Amino acid sequence: MPRDLESAKATLDAMPPLSKEPTASSSSPPPDHPLPLYRVPTTFIEDRFKKMKDLHPYALLLSQDDLDECDWLEHAAFEPHEAASREKLEYRLSVCGELCSGLFSSGYATTSGKLGELIRSRKFPSIDSSDSDRRKVLLGHVIATKHTAPVVTDDSMDFAKDWKTKYQLAPPVGHNEDGETICLHSLGVHPNFQGKGLGKVLLQGWTQRMRDAGIGKRIALICHEQFIPFYEGAGYTKIGPSKCQYGGGGWFDMVLEFDEAPKGDLDF
Ligand SMILES: CC(C)(COP(=O)(O)OP(=O)(O)OC[C@H]1O[C@@H](n2cnc3c(N)ncnc32)[C@H](O)[C@@H]1OP(=O)(O)O)[C@@H](O)C(=O)NCCC(=O)NCCS
Repeated sequence: MPRDLESAKATLDAMPPLSKEPTASSSSPPPDHPLPLYRVPTTFIEDRFKKMKDLHPYALLLSQDDLDECDWLEHAAFEPHEAASREKLEYRLSVCGELCSGLFSSGYATTSGKLGELIRSRKFPSIDSSDSDRRKVLLGHVIATKHTAPVVTDDSMDFAKDWKTKYQLAPPVGHNEDGETICLHSLGVHPNFQGKGLGKVLLQGWTQRMRDAGIGKRIALICHEQFIPFYEGAGYTKIGPSKCQYGGGGWFDMVLEFDEAPKGDLDF
């Protein structure tokens, strides 16, 4: 017999005989699994994603086509004196929509829970012309522009009212394509879906996209004091009180420099 077949025969001879009865070792699940193996879930969901799992959120770039949805969301998420006007949103989505992100879900009027309730309360756009009853729902958005100042200023938050008729390459107010500071002006999640981790996911994904795009040196934002830990957790650093008087003032400057090693909770 060739030598390799001899070794195969030796291996077979050493194996226990086949039997229909389960052996002692296979009759009980391994100690790590209190359930029989066929009942152990094959997908694992981290705790931080469990609250949002029925929403199946996905992120997309925004454009002026999303104006109605962003206007609706902005005024649902922010107090009236802090919400950006429809005109300002139209400006930002038109001139630099690629700096903005939307977090969406989709569903039907028959969908259960808060998503279905919302879909029944307002006409959302259809997600697909072949399934016009399936609605695309904006859960949250990030709206941003670029500016030359190293922090967010009142000028960066403003916009030239004649922007539609008078194009300016480097306007003193509003979006400046040559600016190296990406200014985050709005981060909002619809009140029905706050506290589920969507704000964190949206901020984390958008921040990473801006870093990878290589279109600026830093991100700057202003926020109220209670949100400082939220942004610090995503790697932003508190600079100090902001000079911005937008919405009555009382803001803090926060900045994330791209050339510094990432800070904060990387699992954020
Ligand atoms: C801020 C906002 C975007 C957070 O989105 P969210 O989906 O509710 O937040 P998450 O569920 O991802 O939670 C993120 C963290 O922010 C904290 N947070 C959320 N809302 C907060 C608030 N009003 N005050 C203080 N902390 C808050 C949460 O405690 C959470 O921290 P934790 O994970 O340690 O518990 C959302 O609450 C919102 O749209 N608020 C109104 C608009 C606004 O003020 N935005 C600007 C912030 S400068």
